[in-house]
Amino acid sequence: MNNISVIGSGTMGNGIAHVFAQFGYNVSLIDVQQSALDKALTTISKNFDRQVTKGNLTENEKNDALGRIRTFTSLGDGVVNADLVVEAATENLQVKLDLFRQLDELCPKNTILASNTSSISITKIGSATKRPEKVIGMHFMNPVPVMKLVEVIKGYSSSQETTDHVMHICAKLEKIPVEVNDYPGFVANRILMPMINEAIYTLFEGVAGIAEIDTVMKLGMAHPMGPLQLADFIGLDVCLSILKVLHDGFGNPKYAPCPLLVNMVEAGYKGVKSGEGFYEYSPGSKELKVSGRFKK
Ligand code: CAA
Repeated sequence: MNNISVIGSGTMGNGIAHVFAQFGYNVSLIDVQQSALDKALTTISKNFDRQVTKGNLTENEKNDALGRIRTFTSLGDGVVNADLVVEAATENLQVKLDLFRQLDELCPKNTILASNTSSISITKIGSATKRPEKVIGMHFMNPVPVMKLVEVIKGYSSSQETTDHVMHICAKLEKIPVEVNDYPGFVANRILMPMINEAIYTLFEGVAGIAEIDTVMKLGMAHPMGPLQLADFIGLDVCLSILKVLHDGFGNPKYAPCPLLVNMVEAGYKGVKSGEGFYEYSPGSKELKVSGRFKK
């Protein structure tokens, strides 16, 4: 396996392209807009610079890695030689079903089709293709160049051969793959999202403020970020959509999203990406400032 196609050049897509290129794979990065691809290349270059500054990568290795990434706005051109496709497009069921239907027609017959979905059923995605045994989940964590885990999700029809291939590739990326089965939220988000939702309920019910809740979890449980900061980092819209998948999939009220989260997303407060969520973000600033909306 040498040729990897990554679909979607947003935060997850550019991180996935980054690690594959760093570890010697030829990467075709695909998106609908050339401007999005150009922006992704700039981000990847900046993230490589962090590794160069730390002495983890040389300038030459950085340039070689960047030279292995080609960009495409045509899906057909981008996947023509793919051994593995990793889809990291919008987290929307219809978008993914359409994409996988097209990928099945456009890719060579042996290509493995992986999705970086954080909660959509791999079994459902696989059923949109005529090769469900070659469809699998590769759930990277944000920021991809830093986080060691890849949750490898076996759909109902994913073959052991496909799973073994993907586990092997993850190890080559110096990641730690963990094999899990395909049920709502898989493992990562089935456990993470109820914690984040409970933190939002704790705020909503006035038990404590934002900084207090995050400090308890950071200092008390040694989490690198508190749950409310992490929710902003992931995107409040993404958190809401994963909670809806858990709520629909299990039919259990314990997964019902907190009404405060629903309101914030509906009002456009999505966290880091929109500039404000539980905290306010200004470009270039590392200061964590609680949103003025939550001040008494
Ligand atoms: N690319 C490359 N390197 C990066 C990077 C990026 N995008 N972002 C950060 N880094 C590097 C920095 O250069 C730094 O490197 P050194 O350790 O060598 O110095 C290191 O990561 C730490 O970065 P910072 O010093 O800037 O900041 P920090 O210490 O606050 O760490 C963090 C930042 C790694 C994001 C940390 O806060 C953290 O681990 N947060 C939790 C992340 C998390 O839980 N991610 C999972 C989210 S859930 C998900 O992704 C799945 C889902 O389905 C929702």
